[in-house]
Amino acid sequence: MGYGFSRADVDFLVSAAGRAALTEAARLELTSATHLRDLERARRDFGARAPALIETVRLRRRASAKLADAGDWLFTEDAVQQATPTVVARRRARRLAGRAVHDVTCSVGAELVELARVCPAVVGSDLDTVRLAMAAHNIGAAWHPVVRASAAAGLSRQNVVLAAADALKPTTKDTVIVADPGRRAGGRRTHDPAALQPPLPDLLTAYAGRDMVVKCAPGLDFDSLDWPGEIEVVSLDGAVREACLWSPGVAEPGVRRRAAVLSGTGASYTLTDADPDDIPERAPGQWIIDPDGAIVRAGLVRHYAAGHGLWQLDPHIAYLTGDTVPPGVRGFRIEDRMEMREKTLRQELARRDCGSLEILVRGVDVDPDVLRKKLKLRGSKAYSLVITRIGRAAAVFLCTARAPLTPPSS
Ligand SMILES: C[S@@+](CC[C@H](N)C(=O)[O-])C[C@H]1O[C@@H](n2cnc3c(N)ncnc32)[C@H](O)[C@@H]1O
Repeated sequence: MGYGFSRADVDFLVSAAGRAALTEAARLELTSATHLRDLERARRDFGARAPALIETVRLRRRASAKLADAGDWLFTEDAVQQATPTVVARRRARRLAGRAVHDVTCSVGAELVELARVCPAVVGSDLDTVRLAMAAHNIGAAWHPVVRASAAAGLSRQNVVLAAADALKPTTKDTVIVADPGRRAGGRRTHDPAALQPPLPDLLTAYAGRDMVVKCAPGLDFDSLDWPGEIEVVSLDGAVREACLWSPGVAEPGVRRRAAVLSGTGASYTLTDADPDDIPERAPGQWIIDPDGAIVRAGLVRHYAAGHGLWQLDPHIAYLTGDTVPPGVRGFRIEDRMEMREKTLRQELARRDCGSLEILVRGVDVDPDVLRKKLKLRGSKAYSLVITRIGRAAAVFLCTARAPLTPPSS
């Protein structure tokens, strides 16, 4: 749950006294070993302000893993969890560069700050006035009707206005609507679009016909949505983070699906369904490649294969094969192809002195942990087992994994 910040807490934290207290509190270790001692000391030094100070220091540290500006920012626990990572927000903002935008669920401003860098006019609104007060500090924006400049962050963004407003009641005209409905209902993650806050169907109705970009959970059922624009699936450092709906007016013409494969190091690439997808049907090559989850989720496995001279092990399964491995991805060199029989696998792995085994499964009903136990590995070498289906039969490939070579350029 985290500490429940009030508007008075935010007022204190952005004041000169609050900033000085935060500098002091930032010296506390705040590890599980020092927690009680730190708390005692904070209570002695800061009295009733201690919980807000300690929580802010803790959340800043946590947020620094995904937000570039976290060092001076104010957060609630949920706001950190819900914030779009800077790499993802920056990329989305770049696609909207030059447009006037309205982020109708702006929270503490993780997307807003990136939009403000490249868009001439930016409005941020949210129902939660504590988060809005934090956003005003975080991005140095004017909060209508109370205008605040952020001395702590040293920023003054003339092009951003913040306001408390319900996203379901349009308050701006001629702006691109950016929305990121909350994915947590009752403390748990939900995949039901109607259970989001605000509900996705209501949001789409409220802005029908407008240019809009809506961030959704990657598990969204694309087919039932029947979205007329582009659906972009985004991964960051190998983990699929979101599916983003781009309305026809802001989508790339002719594109209905896109995969954006991003990395914290800055290397990234995109792939769309407008790219070629002609691939040969062939027997397995020397390598197996497991494409990035964004490519699989966006349904662009063939397009990725076509771009890298690969082909599929089976037309219905997302594993690819070929004689080379694209840069930036792990490859599994095929050492042997075997039948799905435990006894044969156990004997072969023992003969090869296998001690650790990564098991990848797709298209067959095998629990890797259960299988690994049954294989009784006692050796010293590392192997990977790719278990999949080719046609109607299960196929097992014993492989050695190779780390990614040079990452792809943006
Ligand atoms: C997932 S968070 C947005 C996070 C934000 N994109 C970021 O990166 O920091 C969703 C936000 O929607 C707000 N919200 C929920 N229902 C709303 C509504 N009807 N109108 C405006 N904001 C709403 C919540 O208060 C919350 O701050």
